[in-house]
Amino acid sequence: MALADNSNRPAPVLITGAAGALGLYFCSAWASNGLAGGRIVPLVRDGRQQKGTLATTGRYLAPVEHVDLADPAQTEALIARFRPSVIIHCAALANVDRCEDDRDKAFRDNVEGTRSIVDALHRQAPDCHLIHISTDQVYRDGGGCRGEIGPVNVYGWTKLWSEDIARQHKVTTVLRLNYVGRGTSARPGLVNWLVDSLRAEKPVTLFQDVLFNPCHGALVPRVVERMVMARTTGIFNLGAHGDGLSKADFLLAVAQKLCLPTQTLQMGRLSDLSLKAPRPLDMRMDVSATETVLGEALPSLLETVEDLVAEWQEEEKHNAG
Ligand SMILES: NC(=O)c1ccc[n+]([C@@H]2O[C@H](COP(=O)([O-])OP(=O)(O)OC[C@H]3O[C@@H](n4cnc5c(N)ncnc54)[C@H](OP(=O)(O)O)[C@@H]3O)[C@@H](O)[C@H]2O)c1
Repeated sequence: MALADNSNRPAPVLITGAAGALGLYFCSAWASNGLAGGRIVPLVRDGRQQKGTLATTGRYLAPVEHVDLADPAQTEALIARFRPSVIIHCAALANVDRCEDDRDKAFRDNVEGTRSIVDALHRQAPDCHLIHISTDQVYRDGGGCRGEIGPVNVYGWTKLWSEDIARQHKVTTVLRLNYVGRGTSARPGLVNWLVDSLRAEKPVTLFQDVLFNPCHGALVPRVVERMVMARTTGIFNLGAHGDGLSKADFLLAVAQKLCLPTQTLQMGRLSDLSLKAPRPLDMRMDVSATETVLGEALPSLLETVEDLVAEWQEEEKHNAG
């Protein structure tokens, strides 16, 4: 592992997009003990976060660093300062419709941001392990179980290009994932949206024609930790074990577990909505290569539902108390 200085302390672990929904899972998981002895340094784009802290949900406080990753000079200065042993690269424009609407921003955040990191690592920390978080949307519709690439929207293309750049670094793991979780105030998670809508008796349409196999967000740092410790490189899919479910069945399972009123639920199809960006209908991925590397099966989608519900209940208790 790279050393930050000559004090024999392991070099820090940088987490990009740390205030985003996935970044927060990494921060919470490693806040106390760091990763492999290295303390974590959460990176956020700008000063909208409370100065010097990352306190998005009150769960986690830590000094943060500000950087716009699409600015190569800022990124290089930061990487030169920390000489990280590991970078978890979560930062991206992950909103599919926004990417379609503003292609320049999608290119800037997803492609140029990754380019800045890789160029800076080349000069400042060539042995750093880069964990590049990618998406199931790099696959063509139905291709995630056969490894067939073919994005259907701008988001997917920019993420695919960013993977190619990330792989120019010599120690890179690309994780193509789909995850569910609590979300952020800017982008509430699926359960929050479902609960708020059904409790307010708003009509909710569930898509029967969209298939997926997401894992829970809290699983991602656990898998990444194993890959970092083993210095595993390559491209891996990360989602739930098994055949997946339709989004409708998945959310129905959540609604039933939480005993939510379901009279305003209706079944529908993705094509009933006129969304800005095209989307694949079958987003399921084969996760067996990841299971082989880990030496165990990943949690099933029903376990993912249970984790999601438990997380939401804990959050509600926390907010009530
Ligand atoms: N959300 C999903 O369902 C999903 C599914 C599969 C894969 N992924 C991947 O998972 C990763 C994390 O996504 P997420 O769900 O956590 O999204 P998110 O909540 O939108 O977080 C992304 C974070 O990245 C930051 N960021 C973007 N461009 C930046 C830049 N140039 N410099 C510094 N920070 C920048 C954003 O900051 P600002 O707030 O300033 O923009 C935001 O805080 C992404 O790589 C995404 O492609 C997400």
